[in-house]
Order: sequence, then C-alpha cells, then structure tokens
Amino acid sequence: MCGIVAYIGEREAYPILIKGLQRLEYRGYDSAGVALVSNRLNVYKSKGKVADLVALAGQSDRTGTVGIGHTRWATHGEPNDINAHPHYSGSRKTVIIHNGIIENYASLKAELKNRGHVFESDTDTEVLVHLIEDIQQREGVALDEAVRIALNNVVGAYAIVILNEDNPDELIAARKSSPLVIGVGENELFVASDATPIVEYTKNVVYLDDEQVAVLHRNGKYHIRTIHNKEITPYIQELQLQLEAIEKGGFDHFMLKEIWEQPRSIKDSMRGRLNSTEGVVALGGIREYMNKFVNADRILIVGCGTSWHAGLVGEYLFEDLARIPVEVEYASEFRYRNPVIGEKDVVIAISQSGETADTLAAIELAKSKGATIFGVCNVVGSSIARATHAGSYTHAGPEIGVASTKAFTAQVTVLTLMALMLGHRRGTITETHYFELLSELEAIPAKVERILKLNDQIRYLAGIFKDARNFLYLGRSYTFPVALEGALKLKEISYIHAEGYPAAEMKHGPIALIDEEMPVVVIATKGASYEKVVSNIQEVKARKGKIIAVVTEGDEAVKGMADHVIEIPETDEKLAPLVTVIPLQLLAYHIAVMRDCNVDQPRNLAKSVTVE
Ligand code: G6P
Repeated sequence: MCGIVAYIGEREAYPILIKGLQRLEYRGYDSAGVALVSNRLNVYKSKGKVADLVALAGQSDRTGTVGIGHTRWATHGEPNDINAHPHYSGSRKTVIIHNGIIENYASLKAELKNRGHVFESDTDTEVLVHLIEDIQQREGVALDEAVRIALNNVVGAYAIVILNEDNPDELIAARKSSPLVIGVGENELFVASDATPIVEYTKNVVYLDDEQVAVLHRNGKYHIRTIHNKEITPYIQELQLQLEAIEKGGFDHFMLKEIWEQPRSIKDSMRGRLNSTEGVVALGGIREYMNKFVNADRILIVGCGTSWHAGLVGEYLFEDLARIPVEVEYASEFRYRNPVIGEKDVVIAISQSGETADTLAAIELAKSKGATIFGVCNVVGSSIARATHAGSYTHAGPEIGVASTKAFTAQVTVLTLMALMLGHRRGTITETHYFELLSELEAIPAKVERILKLNDQIRYLAGIFKDARNFLYLGRSYTFPVALEGALKLKEISYIHAEGYPAAEMKHGPIALIDEEMPVVVIATKGASYEKVVSNIQEVKARKGKIIAVVTEGDEAVKGMADHVIEIPETDEKLAPLVTVIPLQLLAYHIAVMRDCNVDQPRNLAKSVTVE
C-alpha cells in the first residue's frame, strides 16, 4: 500500500516522479503528491489519481533535480487533499512521504501538541515529520541523525523519504516492514517502493533492510546505517526485471495481459524444476530443508486473498498426494489466535507481493515457535521471501493488475510441484500416478492456451449477465477454491456481489437466494465429484437459477441442463484449478469492462497490503 518514489541527480525530477507514480499506482490511488526543490520547495498534492495530480501541478513550477513522490492508500485520515503526502514539518522546510503505519502516533502527537506543534492533517505521517524536526531543534543535530533518533521512538511500520528545502543535495530514506529499494545510477540515485520506477534508468539496486537509514547525496554517493547507528556496507544487486514486463504491451488492461500470459507464466513456474521423463521434481530453494518437509507432522499454509485460495488448493494436494495433515489459515486470523505450532510443523507462506503485513507477522509468530517456514512468493527479494527459511519463487513475472490472476496459477503450480515431490519421497503416491501427473502438469500451459481461445464466447456471456446483482459460484473438492477465487475476481473488479460455495453446502444457505435472476457459475468438470455436482446443478435448475457451467470438452449431460456451458480441455482433477480458473478470470474481466469499472485499479483495493 502506498507507493514511494524519489530522485536526486542531474535530471529534472518531476517527469521521473510522475512516471514512477504511475507505475506504482497499483499500490494505492486515493491521492498523490510530489515535492520538488528548485529555488524553493514546491509541494503539489491532490485527492485522486496521479492524473489528478498532473492536472493540479499544471503549469506551476515543476523544476528541480531533487524530489519525492507518493501515491496513497489511506489508513489514517480520509483520502483528501490535506491528508495526501508529502507532509510538512512545523517550519515547512522539511517534507516526508511515508508508507506504513506509525502505531504510537496518537501519544507522540499529544506530546508534540503539548510542546506547541500544530497539525494540519489527520495522518500519522505528519506526526513523524514533526517529531523529526522537534528532535533536530531540541538536540541540535543534523536531519539524518534526527531521523535516526525519531525512528527509535516509533512503533510501527514505515518506508519514508525525507527532503529538506535548505539541503536539496540530500535525501534521507528509511524502512521497517515496508519495502524500499535504492536505484544506483551514474551521479544519480532513485528510491522507490519497488523497482518498477527505477528499471528504465539503472539495473543496480540496493534493497534497504529493516531499521536502516540511507542518506543519498546528489553526486550519487550514499551511506547506510541502522537506527542503532551501525554502519552498513551496501549490497548492490542487478535487477532481473525487464521494462516490457511492466508495460501493457498492446493490451487494454494489465489484468487482461496477465490472464493472457498464463501459458508462459505457468511454464516459468515449472522451468528447470520438472523433468517428466526422468520423473524428477527439483525445488532448489527448499532442498536444504527437504528432510524437515518429508517428515513434517503437519503443514500449515498461511496467506491472504487469492494467495489463501491457492493455499486451499495446496491443502487438497498435500493431503491427497503426500498424506500430511494440512491446515490453511488466513494470516490475519492465525497471527492473533494463539495457534498451536510445533517444531515439526512446516509453514508455507504464500504471497504474490511478498509484502503482505499479516502474512509477514504470521511468519514471525510461527518462526518464534520453532516451525520451519517456506515462502511461495512472486516478488524476488521481497520481505516475506527474506523472512522465510527457504522457499520457491513462483516466477510469474510482475503482476500489476490489482486482481491477481497469473500469480494464482503460478502459486498453484508451485504447490503442485511441492506436493508431487513430497508424495513421491514419502511413497504415498504410486509411481504410475506420479508420472501421469508430471506429464499432465507439463501439458497444462497448452491447455490454458486453448481456453484463452474461448475469450469471445466468454465476452458474449459477460454481455448477458453484466447487470446481475448477485452471482453464486459453486465447486467441489479441487474446484471449491476455484469457486471462491472466481467469486472474488468478480466482486473485486465489477462490484457485483458474489459468493463462492462448496456445491453441496449451498443447500445450507445460499439456495434460499436462488431465483430466475441469479446466475450460478458451476464448475462441473470430470472428476470424482462430477455426479454429485450434476445433482447440485439440478437443485439450482429446480429453483430456476441461470446456470453457467464450466465442463470438460464433450460433456453432454450438463449441456442438457445448463443455460450455458464453457467447454475446457480435460485434465486430472488434481490439476483442475489451473484450467478451470481461466474462464472465471475472463468472465470477471469482461463483466467489469462492460460495467465501465476500472479493472486494474478497483476502488478501495491495493495490490500490496502492507498494513494489517
Ligand atoms: C490484496 C490483493 C490481492 C491479493 C492479496 C494478498 O488484497 O489485492 O490480489 O491476493 O492482497 O496479497 P499477496 O501479495 O500476499 O499475495
């Protein structure tokens, strides 16, 4: 949540900041702002998107070769112009941008008010910049030292960048629990929440660690120390990110591009890890912990949103193939409910961004109880990837659309590889079935490719159902999590109320909602529960619900009952989530487009939820 970008060097900062903010808008888009120093400090900020900020800044003085920019997802204080970042210190000489939450801001604010500070906004961020200036004045120290001292008094999470009017040759950046990366160019430096604003200028980056403060100079030099005053030798990494990966590449929306990328992204999640002829699954990232994994008493899976849905698929896979008991938990519940965790438990934390605050906290809790923690993350070098003992990246490439698509299929692919590997090692899966599943998994990308060809049919269905007020999604066994995911996609981007349910459980509630107005998406592909799902379809039909069924190619039985069928290629039911989710992603996408919704940036949501 909240995007940060900053620049210091020889170029004009404003265009770099605006372009960077546009790239970071997926992190939040309640308001946006920039601060630049040329002859004086100029701050422009506005409610709404980066486009609104550009309109506001208009023809005003936007010059300056140093500047900071912010796009906000509101936590403290409603999203309005005043609460937008950057925020001024009391003297209006220093400005700050911030991602995170200062949890003890209320007590700090009260203390500062007692000392005569006056606040303009309702934000925790403004408190921090006042605190910094207060320390600077009271203790007569330099700004960077005041920042360091202030951060020792702060409880919470922060990624901050600070700029001072009187010292435009310096920027100060710091982080704790919210990501921040420094781009190191020739006589210029960048700071951002992720590398996307940086990649076109330099490939050399330094990821700040928790409780580190960096001072960036105009000549391209920078120094890092911890808030406890320990010098740090920076580790410069080369970015692997390609510019094309973060651009729309001819698609109308990132979400559509990302749906379309799935044949490749699924392949990338398996690349170098699967040899179906030799029967080898190799996950290098967890190799060292293989014994722990194979002998685990229990697997706990934690995640949020779509990642939690992928975790549910993981539960079915691990129990089915490896016969290890699994529990899947919302990270936000797990972290606060005093769970029983033992040293023989393996916890798998799933997260596209690798920055989700609740998932990160769940990891810390499980770690403190001695469990072994694996990460299944998409963003390389992210906080979760670094906080875990080991892990397997999903390698789906950057996902920009707020509604997760290719990250889900990549997560499920990695979990499938893990479950197959574990089942094989534990001898809980027959050799024949193991080999069958490996080659079936390899065949999935081509099947997804074929499903994407149904785009026109699905767009047509979207046209029929776009005005529905409610949707029900039903699945059973491996496709139950897909029903949840299909419903989540629709509500996230089209604002139509949708519920995912286990098909049989429908009888215990949602069936009361069914009438001729209610579209019911049923995943009825071939598998052990097929006959049961067919019965559930009849139950819906008897109540006049409109059935859109996702079926296996050639299925005649359901065709005779459903109002519409989407026929997809056959696969083993254990791999069904990877194919059945694709038409549901497309259905949600087209409905949202037809309803004129902002597909890539749905209201109130953010891609990376770095607050609890
Ligand atoms: C937000 C995003 C979702 C995502 C969830 C978990 O809600 O909008 O798309 O599934 O966070 O994020 P993570 O990065 O941990 O997978």
